[in-house]
Amino acid sequence: MAKVFGIVSTKGGVGKTSIAANIGGILADMGQHVLLIDGDFQQSLSDWFEITDKAEFGLRQFITKAQPTNCISSTAIDNLDIVLSDDPNGKLIDWFRASTNNVYYLLASIKRLSDYYDYVIIDSQGARGILQESIILASDSLICPLVPNVMESREFIRGTIQMLKSLEPPAGVSVPVPNIPPLYGVIYKQDRTNNSIKIANAIRKQFYQGSGGKISVLDTFVPNLTAYKKAVAAGLPVHRVEVTRSGPTPSAHDTILSLVHELLPHLSDTRPVWDKNNVSPIKKAAGGEE
Ligand SMILES: Nc1ncnc2c1ncn2[C@@H]1O[C@H](COP(=O)(O)OP(=O)(O)OP(=O)(O)O)[C@@H](O)[C@H]1O
Ligand SMILES: [Mg+2]
Repeated sequence: MAKVFGIVSTKGGVGKTSIAANIGGILADMGQHVLLIDGDFQQSLSDWFEITDKAEFGLRQFITKAQPTNCISSTAIDNLDIVLSDDPNGKLIDWFRASTNNVYYLLASIKRLSDYYDYVIIDSQGARGILQESIILASDSLICPLVPNVMESREFIRGTIQMLKSLEPPAGVSVPVPNIPPLYGVIYKQDRTNNSIKIANAIRKQFYQGSGGKISVLDTFVPNLTAYKKAVAAGLPVHRVEVTRSGPTPSAHDTILSLVHELLPHLSDTRPVWDKNNVSPIKKAAGGEE
Protein backbone atom coordinates (compact mmCIF):
# COMPACT_ATOMS: atom_id res chain seq x y z
CA MET A 1 0.00 0.00 0.00
CA ALA A 2 1.71 3.21 -1.17
CA LYS A 3 2.10 6.08 1.24
CA VAL A 4 1.33 9.40 -0.45
CA PHE A 5 3.19 12.61 0.41
CA GLY A 6 1.86 15.91 -0.97
CA ILE A 7 4.42 18.73 -1.02
CA VAL A 8 2.44 21.92 -0.50
CA SER A 9 2.78 25.60 0.26
CA THR A 10 0.74 28.51 -0.98
CA LYS A 11 4.04 30.36 -1.36
CA GLY A 12 6.22 30.03 -4.47
CA GLY A 13 9.98 29.46 -4.57
CA VAL A 14 10.27 27.96 -1.08
CA GLY A 15 11.72 24.53 -1.95
CA LYS A 16 8.73 22.29 -2.81
CA THR A 17 10.16 20.84 -6.02
CA SER A 18 13.59 20.33 -4.40
CA ILE A 19 12.03 18.41 -1.52
CA ALA A 20 9.95 16.26 -3.91
CA ALA A 21 12.95 15.40 -6.13
CA ASN A 22 15.42 14.84 -3.29
CA ILE A 23 13.15 12.78 -1.06
CA GLY A 24 11.95 10.76 -4.05
CA GLY A 25 15.53 10.22 -5.23
CA ILE A 26 16.91 9.09 -1.90
CA LEU A 27 13.96 6.75 -1.24
CA ALA A 28 14.57 5.16 -4.66
CA ASP A 29 18.27 4.65 -3.78
CA MET A 30 17.09 3.10 -0.49
CA GLY A 31 15.39 0.39 -2.56
CA GLN A 32 11.87 1.80 -2.34
CA HIS A 33 9.60 1.97 -5.40
CA VAL A 34 8.75 5.61 -5.85
CA LEU A 35 6.35 7.47 -8.13
CA LEU A 36 6.76 11.23 -8.48
CA ILE A 37 3.77 13.22 -9.73
CA ASP A 38 4.43 16.68 -11.12
CA GLY A 39 1.34 18.63 -10.08
CA ASP A 40 2.72 22.00 -11.17
CA PHE A 41 2.18 23.35 -14.69
CA GLN A 42 5.67 24.97 -14.49
CA GLN A 43 7.04 21.40 -15.01
CA SER A 44 10.16 21.87 -12.83
CA LEU A 45 9.98 18.36 -11.38
CA SER A 46 9.39 16.92 -14.88
CA ASP A 47 12.63 18.57 -16.01
CA TRP A 48 14.74 17.41 -13.02
CA PHE A 49 15.65 13.81 -13.92
CA GLU A 50 16.65 12.33 -17.25
CA ILE A 51 13.64 10.49 -18.72
CA THR A 52 14.61 7.11 -20.17
CA ASP A 53 11.16 5.92 -21.23
CA LYS A 54 8.57 8.61 -21.86
CA ALA A 55 4.92 7.63 -21.54
CA GLU A 56 2.37 8.67 -24.15
CA PHE A 57 0.43 10.76 -21.60
CA GLY A 58 1.06 12.67 -18.39
CA LEU A 59 -0.77 14.48 -15.62
CA ARG A 60 -3.87 15.54 -17.62
CA GLN A 61 -4.80 11.99 -18.59
CA PHE A 62 -3.72 10.63 -15.18
CA ILE A 63 -6.23 12.92 -13.47
CA THR A 64 -9.09 13.29 -15.94
CA LYS A 65 -9.39 9.57 -16.74
CA ALA A 66 -8.87 8.57 -13.09
CA GLN A 67 -6.53 5.82 -14.24
CA PRO A 68 -2.77 5.67 -14.79
CA THR A 69 -2.45 3.59 -17.99
CA ASN A 70 0.22 5.03 -20.34
CA CYS A 71 0.86 7.96 -17.97
CA ILE A 72 4.00 6.75 -16.15
CA SER A 73 7.46 7.60 -17.45
CA SER A 74 10.73 6.03 -16.24
CA THR A 75 13.68 8.11 -15.04
CA ALA A 76 17.39 7.30 -15.24
CA ILE A 77 17.29 6.58 -11.49
CA ASP A 78 16.38 2.96 -10.74
CA ASN A 79 13.07 2.59 -8.83
CA LEU A 80 12.04 6.17 -9.69
CA ASP A 81 9.09 6.79 -12.03
CA ILE A 82 7.23 9.99 -12.79
CA VAL A 83 3.91 11.30 -14.07
CA LEU A 84 5.08 14.26 -16.15
CA SER A 85 3.29 17.58 -16.14
CA ASP A 86 1.79 18.22 -19.58
CA ASP A 87 -0.48 21.17 -18.90
CA PRO A 88 1.62 24.30 -19.53
CA ASN A 89 -1.46 26.52 -20.01
CA GLY A 90 -3.30 25.31 -16.90
CA LYS A 91 -6.23 23.81 -18.92
CA LEU A 92 -6.85 21.26 -16.16
CA ILE A 93 -8.35 23.99 -14.03
CA ASP A 94 -11.31 24.34 -16.46
CA TRP A 95 -11.87 20.61 -16.26
CA PHE A 96 -11.84 20.73 -12.44
CA ARG A 97 -14.45 23.50 -12.48
CA ALA A 98 -16.88 21.37 -14.50
CA SER A 99 -17.82 19.15 -11.54
CA THR A 100 -17.23 19.13 -7.79
CA ASN A 101 -16.52 15.41 -7.97
CA ASN A 102 -13.47 16.01 -10.16
CA VAL A 103 -11.43 16.93 -7.10
CA TYR A 104 -11.35 13.20 -6.20
CA TYR A 105 -10.05 11.89 -9.55
CA LEU A 106 -6.38 12.24 -8.62
CA LEU A 107 -6.99 10.20 -5.48
CA ALA A 108 -8.79 7.54 -7.56
CA SER A 109 -5.93 7.31 -10.06
CA ILE A 110 -3.30 6.96 -7.30
CA LYS A 111 -5.36 4.28 -5.54
CA ARG A 112 -5.12 2.10 -8.65
CA LEU A 113 -1.32 2.16 -8.31
CA SER A 114 -1.21 1.59 -4.62
CA ASP A 115 0.14 -1.98 -4.86
CA TYR A 116 2.91 -1.07 -7.29
CA TYR A 117 4.69 1.67 -5.33
CA ASP A 118 5.93 2.13 -1.78
CA TYR A 119 5.78 5.93 -1.99
CA VAL A 120 4.00 8.47 -4.15
CA ILE A 121 5.31 12.04 -3.91
CA ILE A 122 3.28 14.87 -5.44
CA ASP A 123 4.80 18.27 -6.18
CA SER A 124 2.40 21.22 -6.34
CA GLN A 125 2.27 24.81 -7.49
CA GLY A 126 2.92 27.55 -4.93
CA ALA A 127 -0.60 28.95 -4.92
CA ARG A 128 -4.03 28.12 -3.63
CA GLY A 129 -6.43 26.44 -6.03
CA ILE A 130 -8.47 23.41 -6.93
CA LEU A 131 -5.50 21.29 -8.16
CA GLN A 132 -3.71 21.91 -4.84
CA GLU A 133 -6.89 20.90 -2.99
CA SER A 134 -7.13 17.69 -4.97
CA ILE A 135 -3.46 16.97 -4.09
CA ILE A 136 -4.23 17.48 -0.39
CA LEU A 137 -7.22 15.13 -0.59
CA ALA A 138 -5.07 12.46 -2.31
CA SER A 139 -2.27 12.64 0.31
CA ASP A 140 -1.69 10.65 3.51
CA SER A 141 0.74 13.32 4.79
CA LEU A 142 1.72 16.79 3.68
CA ILE A 143 5.19 18.31 3.71
CA CYS A 144 5.58 22.09 3.69
CA PRO A 145 8.94 23.87 3.42
CA LEU A 146 9.10 26.81 5.85
CA VAL A 147 11.68 29.47 5.11
CA PRO A 148 12.67 31.01 8.45
CA ASN A 149 11.95 34.69 8.06
CA VAL A 150 9.08 36.71 9.46
CA MET A 151 7.31 37.40 6.17
CA GLU A 152 7.44 33.76 5.08
CA SER A 153 6.05 32.48 8.37
CA ARG A 154 3.16 34.98 8.15
CA GLU A 155 2.42 33.75 4.64
CA PHE A 156 2.40 30.16 5.94
CA ILE A 157 -0.26 31.02 8.50
CA ARG A 158 -2.31 33.14 6.14
CA GLY A 159 -2.11 30.93 3.09
CA THR A 160 -1.28 27.29 3.72
CA ILE A 161 -3.05 26.86 7.06
CA GLN A 162 -6.16 28.66 5.83
CA MET A 163 -6.24 26.42 2.75
CA LEU A 164 -6.21 23.34 5.01
CA LYS A 165 -8.89 24.81 7.30
CA SER A 166 -11.15 25.56 4.35
CA LEU A 167 -11.27 21.84 3.51
CA GLU A 168 -12.57 20.89 6.95
CA PRO A 169 -16.35 20.55 7.52
CA PRO A 170 -18.09 23.34 9.47
CA ALA A 171 -17.95 22.88 13.26
CA GLY A 172 -20.76 20.68 14.58
CA VAL A 173 -21.77 19.43 11.14
CA SER A 174 -21.26 15.77 10.60
CA VAL A 175 -20.85 15.06 6.89
CA PRO A 176 -18.77 12.25 5.40
CA VAL A 177 -15.66 14.13 4.31
CA PRO A 178 -12.14 12.74 3.98
CA ASN A 179 -9.60 13.50 6.69
CA ILE A 180 -7.28 16.41 6.09
CA PRO A 181 -3.80 14.82 6.32
CA PRO A 182 -1.28 15.85 8.98
CA LEU A 183 1.28 18.43 7.86
CA TYR A 184 5.03 18.28 8.54
CA GLY A 185 6.82 21.60 8.28
CA VAL A 186 10.48 21.49 7.26
CA ILE A 187 12.59 24.50 8.16
CA TYR A 188 14.15 25.21 4.79
CA LYS A 189 17.11 27.25 3.52
CA GLN A 190 18.15 28.03 7.05
CA ASP A 191 21.37 30.02 7.33
CA ARG A 192 23.50 30.16 10.46
CA THR A 193 22.49 33.66 11.60
CA ASN A 194 21.00 34.04 15.09
CA ASN A 195 17.92 35.67 13.62
CA SER A 196 17.18 32.74 11.33
CA ILE A 197 17.68 30.27 14.17
CA LYS A 198 15.41 32.30 16.48
CA ILE A 199 12.62 32.44 13.91
CA ALA A 200 12.97 28.71 13.23
CA ASN A 201 12.56 28.00 16.95
CA ALA A 202 9.55 30.33 17.19
CA ILE A 203 7.90 28.59 14.20
CA ARG A 204 8.47 25.21 15.89
CA LYS A 205 6.90 26.29 19.18
CA GLN A 206 3.99 28.16 17.66
CA PHE A 207 2.80 25.40 15.36
CA TYR A 208 3.43 22.42 17.56
CA GLN A 209 1.48 23.96 20.42
CA GLY A 210 -1.30 25.62 18.44
CA SER A 211 -2.43 22.94 15.99
CA GLY A 212 -3.73 20.10 18.15
CA GLY A 213 -1.19 17.69 16.66
CA LYS A 214 -2.14 18.29 13.01
CA ILE A 215 0.93 20.38 12.27
CA SER A 216 4.40 19.55 13.48
CA VAL A 217 7.77 20.95 12.53
CA LEU A 218 10.48 18.34 11.94
CA ASP A 219 13.75 18.50 13.89
CA THR A 220 15.80 18.11 10.71
CA PHE A 221 16.26 21.39 8.88
CA VAL A 222 17.61 21.91 5.37
CA PRO A 223 20.50 24.42 5.21
CA ASN A 224 20.97 27.02 2.52
CA LEU A 225 23.69 25.41 0.35
CA THR A 226 24.71 25.58 -3.29
CA ALA A 227 24.72 21.77 -3.48
CA TYR A 228 20.90 21.96 -3.75
CA LYS A 229 21.18 24.20 -6.81
CA LYS A 230 23.87 21.95 -8.31
CA ALA A 231 21.58 18.94 -7.96
CA VAL A 232 18.98 20.50 -10.29
CA ALA A 233 21.66 21.33 -12.86
CA ALA A 234 23.07 17.80 -12.59
CA GLY A 235 19.67 16.13 -12.92
CA LEU A 236 20.41 14.10 -9.80
CA PRO A 237 19.05 13.83 -6.26
CA VAL A 238 21.19 15.99 -3.97
CA HIS A 239 22.43 13.11 -1.75
CA ARG A 240 24.43 11.88 -4.76
CA VAL A 241 25.87 15.35 -5.44
CA GLU A 242 27.17 16.20 -1.96
CA VAL A 243 27.89 13.04 0.03
CA THR A 244 30.27 14.53 2.59
CA ARG A 245 31.16 18.02 3.67
CA SER A 246 33.66 19.53 6.08
CA GLY A 247 32.60 21.97 8.81
CA PRO A 248 29.60 22.02 11.12
CA THR A 249 26.85 22.08 8.45
CA PRO A 250 25.68 18.56 7.57
CA SER A 251 26.14 17.39 3.98
CA ALA A 252 23.10 17.29 1.71
CA HIS A 253 23.31 13.48 1.84
CA ASP A 254 23.11 13.47 5.64
CA THR A 255 20.37 16.11 5.74
CA ILE A 256 18.02 14.41 3.30
CA LEU A 257 18.66 11.00 4.88
CA SER A 258 17.88 12.42 8.31
CA LEU A 259 14.68 14.00 6.93
CA VAL A 260 13.54 10.66 5.50
CA HIS A 261 14.44 8.77 8.69
CA GLU A 262 12.45 11.29 10.73
CA LEU A 263 9.41 11.00 8.44
CA LEU A 264 9.68 7.21 8.09
CA PRO A 265 11.28 5.79 11.26
CA HIS A 266 10.83 2.20 10.02
CA LEU A 267 13.53 2.94 7.41
CA SER A 268 16.03 4.17 10.00
CA ASP A 269 18.37 1.21 9.35
CA THR A 270 18.31 1.73 5.58
CA ARG A 271 20.82 3.93 3.74
CA PRO A 272 20.93 4.88 0.06
CA VAL A 273 23.12 2.85 -2.30
CA TRP A 274 23.96 3.81 -5.89
CA ASP A 275 26.54 3.14 -8.54
CA LYS A 276 29.14 5.85 -7.92
CA ASN A 277 30.79 5.24 -11.32
CA ASN A 278 27.57 5.84 -13.17
CA VAL A 279 27.84 9.62 -13.46
CA SER A 280 25.36 10.98 -15.97
CA PRO A 281 26.66 13.13 -18.88
CA ILE A 282 24.53 16.00 -17.54
CA LYS A 283 26.36 15.81 -14.23
CA LYS A 284 29.76 15.97 -15.88
CA ALA A 285 28.70 19.11 -17.71
CA ALA A 286 27.51 20.67 -14.42
CA GLY A 287 30.99 20.50 -12.87
CA GLY A 288 32.57 18.92 -9.81
CA GLU A 289 32.07 19.15 -6.07
CA GLU A 290 31.56 22.42 -4.22
N1 LIG B 1 18.58 24.06 0.44
C1 LIG B 1 18.73 24.95 -0.53
N2 LIG B 1 19.72 25.87 -0.48
C2 LIG B 1 19.86 26.79 -1.44
N3 LIG B 1 19.06 26.89 -2.53
C3 LIG B 1 18.06 26.01 -2.65
C4 LIG B 1 17.84 25.00 -1.67
N4 LIG B 1 16.78 24.26 -2.08
C5 LIG B 1 16.36 24.79 -3.24
N5 LIG B 1 17.11 25.83 -3.59
C6 LIG B 1 16.92 26.70 -4.76
O1 LIG B 1 15.82 27.58 -4.48
C7 LIG B 1 15.02 27.79 -5.64
C8 LIG B 1 13.56 27.42 -5.36
O2 LIG B 1 13.50 26.04 -5.06
P1 LIG B 1 12.31 25.13 -5.62
O3 LIG B 1 12.20 25.26 -7.11
O4 LIG B 1 12.48 23.78 -5.06
O5 LIG B 1 11.05 25.87 -4.95
P2 LIG B 1 9.49 25.69 -5.27
O6 LIG B 1 8.76 25.95 -4.00
O7 LIG B 1 9.25 24.41 -5.95
O8 LIG B 1 9.27 26.89 -6.31
P3 LIG B 1 7.95 27.11 -7.21
O9 LIG B 1 6.89 27.68 -6.31
O10 LIG B 1 8.42 28.09 -8.27
O11 LIG B 1 7.55 25.80 -7.78
C9 LIG B 1 15.68 26.97 -6.73
O12 LIG B 1 16.53 27.81 -7.47
C10 LIG B 1 16.49 25.92 -5.99
O13 LIG B 1 17.61 25.49 -6.73
MG1 LIG C 1 8.31 24.00 -7.75
